[in-house]
Amino acid sequence: MYRKRSIIDHCRHIENVFEGCDHLTYYAVKANSNRELLRLISQEGLGADIGSKGELYLALESGFSAQRITFSGVGKREDEIAYAIDRDIGAFNVESKDEIELLDQVAKRAGRSARILLRLNLDIDAGGHGYISTSLRRNKFGVDWQQAVSVLKWAQTLRHIDVRGIHSHLGSQITKAEPFVTSARILVDLIKQLRREGVIIHELDFGGGFGVQYRGFVSHPQLPNEEPDVTNFAAILAKDILPLLKESGCCISIQPGRSIIAHAGVLLVKVLYHKETAEKVFVVVDGGMNDLIRPSLYNAYHQIVPLEISGAPHEKTDVVGPLCESGDWLALDRMLPRVDCGDYLAIMCAGAYGYVLSSNYNGRPRPAEVLIDGGKCTLIRERETIEEL
Ligand code: LLP
Repeated sequence: MYRKRSIIDHCRHIENVFEGCDHLTYYAVKANSNRELLRLISQEGLGADIGSKGELYLALESGFSAQRITFSGVGKREDEIAYAIDRDIGAFNVESKDEIELLDQVAKRAGRSARILLRLNLDIDAGGHGYISTSLRRNKFGVDWQQAVSVLKWAQTLRHIDVRGIHSHLGSQITKAEPFVTSARILVDLIKQLRREGVIIHELDFGGGFGVQYRGFVSHPQLPNEEPDVTNFAAILAKDILPLLKESGCCISIQPGRSIIAHAGVLLVKVLYHKETAEKVFVVVDGGMNDLIRPSLYNAYHQIVPLEISGAPHEKTDVVGPLCESGDWLALDRMLPRVDCGDYLAIMCAGAYGYVLSSNYNGRPRPAEVLIDGGKCTLIRERETIEEL
């Protein structure tokens, strides 16, 4: 379930930070690619960052103009590149010399040239879970930043490649300013060096990764007290990062995903059973890691709020899904008001990397998606049926 107002507000909030600055915000489609939500975001004037042919198709179908689309990803297939070149997308964020060569060949066949930004690996530890940290030297992403000059000088010699700039993306759910500031400094210095070496740089794409609040999102006297993990990424962007990036004299772009869509979504689940064992209290619900894999995969924290807040006593609970895996949980050892069969729970801040990472594991159809606009509810994706499995 998504709240329309939240999505619009988050888009505008980011755009306000950039006011008066030559920039483009590309929404990272991978965070949530529901067509109706994409349509909403495109209507707010954002561009789209896509990571596959499928996401490109969805972005184009949902109203993003090709010129406002960038294609990121370490493993673009030839047919995906050809599809994107045919549609003349804004730029490719490229990650290796092999990829640039392939892009040059495919662009030549199409009689076009491909605009590129070179993704750089800055070897910065942005903290957080190892699976979503992307800019350490051991990670597969980007080109070592010390090689930027040689790679881009070479790329400039290719006839069907149009070098536009550089790009970095540090990781996801980054809650501190420091890694962003360090990377902004490296990138701006590098742009100066590139220009001295005769490489023309117009664009600096700073990627996404801005962390959002997951804890203490809802507070209520009858809910367990949850210390909020507040991060105000818009303030960090405005105060700490943007002034540095502006020194580059480039068009600045960013690729936020989570920070636009996470807060808009909740996953609603129904309590099937309340069960006590010698060691634990389990609340078994009808949604699990097949619907929201973030807790199981990244040990991620999502606040859980009963839809009806009662004065029931609090108890330490494992909220678990119905699947045949012990790793199928939404919360472990979580203080919650006592709930019973038939009660509903809201798993908060599930708008980003929720539905897109869902699966049909254990033969379970995916849930419906609903958009709430004031008092109006619109079904924006039908519940899957078992016949569709
Ligand atoms: N740009 C690129 C090139 C990316 O790879 C990503 C995310 C983004 C932008 C958007 O990052 P965001 O602003 O959403 O942090 N499934 C994980 C997150 C994976 C992020 C993948 N790349 C999770 O649920 O935490």
